[in-house]
Amino acid sequence: MAEGYFFCCYVRIKFLTLVSLTFFLSCAASRAQAQATSPKKSPVSAVFAFGDSTVDPGNNNFIPTPFRCNFPPYGRDFFTHEPTGRFTNGKLVTDFAASYLGIKEELPPYLDWSLGVEELTTGVSFGSGGSGFDPFTAQIGSVIPVSQQLTYFREYVKKLDLVVGVDARRDIIRRAIFCVSAGTNDFIAFATLPIRRQSFSIEGYQGFILQNVQELLQGLSDLEASRIFVVGLPAIGCLPIIITLSARDGIHDRGCILEHNAVADVYNKKLQVLLQDYAQLRRVQIVYADVYTPLINAVQAPIKYGFEDSKAGCCGTGLIEASILCNPNSLVCFNASKYVFWDSIHPTEKMYRVIFDTFRMMIDQLLKSY
Ligand SMILES: *[C@@H]1O[C@H](CO)[C@@H](O)[C@H](O)[C@H]1NC(C)=O
Repeated sequence: MAEGYFFCCYVRIKFLTLVSLTFFLSCAASRAQAQATSPKKSPVSAVFAFGDSTVDPGNNNFIPTPFRCNFPPYGRDFFTHEPTGRFTNGKLVTDFAASYLGIKEELPPYLDWSLGVEELTTGVSFGSGGSGFDPFTAQIGSVIPVSQQLTYFREYVKKLDLVVGVDARRDIIRRAIFCVSAGTNDFIAFATLPIRRQSFSIEGYQGFILQNVQELLQGLSDLEASRIFVVGLPAIGCLPIIITLSARDGIHDRGCILEHNAVADVYNKKLQVLLQDYAQLRRVQIVYADVYTPLINAVQAPIKYGFEDSKAGCCGTGLIEASILCNPNSLVCFNASKYVFWDSIHPTEKMYRVIFDTFRMMIDQLLKSY
């Protein structure tokens, strides 16, 4: 019964140099309490994720879309060394989070029909690579828009009611941690395709996306989600593909595109205001998770994080390949941990680990609310 807690403590011992001893002690204390009073492994019941490829563990494997990566070299460094559908060489931030919380080692895709009750009740991801808050973004790649992911969540809740009963389901949702990570594809589509620019200025589009964020939050809190991480935009102008497509000489000049970073930065500031207002209004705990800073830091000072290359992905030339263009015929770097990016868009597992490390303090903070 206490295995989960043992694992939780074990993880914390490993990070003891970074995390203070009190965390370990409180962990041990709650383990004792858990043993005495509850069969639950962790105060957190489950993890649920919504969004794009940054949280898609393979939902796109189950739908007809060209935006997929369930073939080598994707998944090369996953513990099974098999492609899972994750758009990277190994784990995602949500996998690290589920593991850190003592829940499970990987967060599975909701659309995997083989999931058992234990998997379903401890959390799933509804994320879909290529998706966005703007329904049009998901349409480009025939993937699952965030609004549809919310519909799936409602369907999931009904299933859970049948399996564990309404009271147990409500308890699971109330004690769960939710993670929302999307928006990058919306702003890439806005910058590269004319369609949305015909009806929106960039400020107008930011407002439109934020309205969609709010609708998702509303849907989640209506179902009693009470702890939600909302991930901001990364430094989009530092993604290898954006540099390749936007720079005047994208082969030789690999500096980040400031204009794209500025759009992301302004959006992130507006997002934080929205989240603060919404959290107060609905009395839910909402945490803004900043990926912009760790990404731009790693790109600008790779050595500091143990990276050797932050300008090109590990797969192929690293300048343009992602999804189907990064495939079994691609030349792949020897050691992905030396790269910030796995393909021209997505971070390596190592970079996801760096990002997760910056989130850990916020997770610990949230744990105090249990
Ligand atoms: C890959 O690179 C990382 C980071 O530099 C290093 O810690 C690791 O030992 C390397 N692995 C191999 C197999 O060379």
